[in-house]
Amino acid sequence: MQKDFLPINGTDHIEFYVGNAKQASLYYQHCFGFNLVAYAGPETGIRDRASYVLQQDKIRLVLTTSLQPGSEIAEHVARHGDGVKVLALWVDDATKSFNETVVRGAQPAFAPHTMKDEFGEVVLSAIRTYGDTLHTFVERKYYKGAFLPGYKPVKSTFTSTPIGLKYVDHCVGNVELGKMNTWVEFYEKVMGFSLLITFDDKDISTEYSALMSKVVSNGNGYIKFPINEPAQGKKKSQIEEYLDFYKGAGVQHIAIATDDIIHTVSELRRRGVEFLYVPETYYEDVMGRVGEINESWDELRKQNILIDRDEEGYLLQIFTKPVEDRPTLFFEIIERNGAKSFGKGNFKALFESIEREQALRGNL
Ligand code: FE2
Repeated sequence: MQKDFLPINGTDHIEFYVGNAKQASLYYQHCFGFNLVAYAGPETGIRDRASYVLQQDKIRLVLTTSLQPGSEIAEHVARHGDGVKVLALWVDDATKSFNETVVRGAQPAFAPHTMKDEFGEVVLSAIRTYGDTLHTFVERKYYKGAFLPGYKPVKSTFTSTPIGLKYVDHCVGNVELGKMNTWVEFYEKVMGFSLLITFDDKDISTEYSALMSKVVSNGNGYIKFPINEPAQGKKKSQIEEYLDFYKGAGVQHIAIATDDIIHTVSELRRRGVEFLYVPETYYEDVMGRVGEINESWDELRKQNILIDRDEEGYLLQIFTKPVEDRPTLFFEIIERNGAKSFGKGNFKALFESIEREQALRGNL
């Protein structure tokens, strides 16, 4: 086997560009149980933006807003609405990661540079991926600070209670019709990922809409990026709706792992997070399909959690409604019990649920 030219330790952070980072950070603290750990803005000598860094176990979210019109951040928000700008990857060598990918055809976003403060140093570099999204490479082996140089450690004025969110399981991109294979090839050739699974429109279609999806993964399997493109259906597919409102390709959903999905989802609901709904009849079919599981069927039904099984085990999953007014980014909560797949058995029920929401928005 060839040596991995882009070893990745995991997801370093996910940065969102938003219209109002102060309020967005409270949403993720209150509703999702993240803790505020670091901040950068005018009070720390940054004049043009404010960024809030939130953490829960291994997950780090950064919420950034522009303080002026016309900036790159403000333009991004004007065009896309609130959304994911950066899927940052934690590496041991950000210079080598940049060079190895750029020599294979990656478009550079910024060249490697070192940032320092009293807690040590970090090397950052970045390349472009689909839409206006970036992959930043973060080398932090000589850094002991809260996040990155320039950020000061901060605490919230209230105590937020974590809800059992553990790590980023996968991040899904929606790309334009005919572009799925281009981006799969990008991850294979430029980043050394391999193709894990292919779903075609026979796997993922309903009466109305269809999509195609391929999942790529890095060498150690810590990073999984499914890439979706719309497929021809009778009506507008959910991917087309996303592309119409995000104004191009971008991150569709972030799947976060928990080891107690019933607790996590009941807390999210209690705090006001809304989920897609599958009808009662889903549970009549699923018990036969999935067989024995450790969780209580009553609890799963009560929380409207979906279940699927593959050769290696089973998984429990649920999807939020979009977390912005535009029907764009949403979250998946997933608990894996051996299964390494993505819930193919739930696609039909799920897409019918998405279409009910699309119809309510007048987009079907
Ligand atoms: Fe997913």
